[in-house]
Amino acid sequence: RKERLLEGKKVLITAGPTREKIDPVRFFTNHSSGKMGYAIAKKAAEAGAEVTLISGPVSLSSPAGVTTIKTETAEEMYQAVMKYFHDSDVVIKSAAVADYRPVQTNEQKMKKKDGSLILEFERTTDILKTLGEQKEHQILIGFAAETEQLETYALNKLKSKNADLIVGNNIMTEGAGFGTDTNAVTFFRKDGPAEELPLQTKDQVAEALITEVHHLLKERLT
Ligand code: PMT
Repeated sequence: RKERLLEGKKVLITAGPTREKIDPVRFFTNHSSGKMGYAIAKKAAEAGAEVTLISGPVSLSSPAGVTTIKTETAEEMYQAVMKYFHDSDVVIKSAAVADYRPVQTNEQKMKKKDGSLILEFERTTDILKTLGEQKEHQILIGFAAETEQLETYALNKLKSKNADLIVGNNIMTEGAGFGTDTNAVTFFRKDGPAEELPLQTKDQVAEALITEVHHLLKERLT
């Protein structure tokens, strides 16, 4: 029988991409498949946690014993996260949220015209930053997907978002990051040394993260 490291804990997880609508047939998005976040949700539930998964549009099915809420845009994901945040013990933000959305969503399908097309984008709400500002007792874990200077950017996020841990993926590493069944991550801790994990399945990364969360919760109690 597996150890139930998160028995009784309420864990909120985000996964997948967001879609920002340009018109009824087009949207702005990224390559997140949701595999990383769904693996974390599955392993957290197996560890005895009460898991709420806020998911962007992906083609995965809800893991056993997990309450999954589907959202589409960054704004919808933000609203859903805020509903559960205050009641959560742990928040893990593995979703790849769009930083920008089109200023205007056209109600009708846009027709092509001569010449180039210029679209104007505006910032979406930074969900992780908002959670960092409103954090009470919660353990707050963010992800960072970077193509360069992973350590610098991850440490910067750890501080500026008031997170307890940033899971950094170097998405230039073969087999790591978006879409794959494997990932290579580094844990950047607020109170402790960084730890680089080997390339392993997303299920194994999720298990390592659950163990890390267990330690963080224990530290909080002492
Ligand atoms: O879904 P998979 O195909 O399995 O891929 C997994 C993954 C690569 C998407 C995942 O491991 C990952 O790294 N997720 C975060 C990707 C990302 O968008 O990183 P970022 O550096 O843009 O964002 C940093 C953090 O801020 C993230 O925790 C993100 O959820 C959060 N964020 C970002 C923008 C925003 N508006 N609000 C946020 O909360």
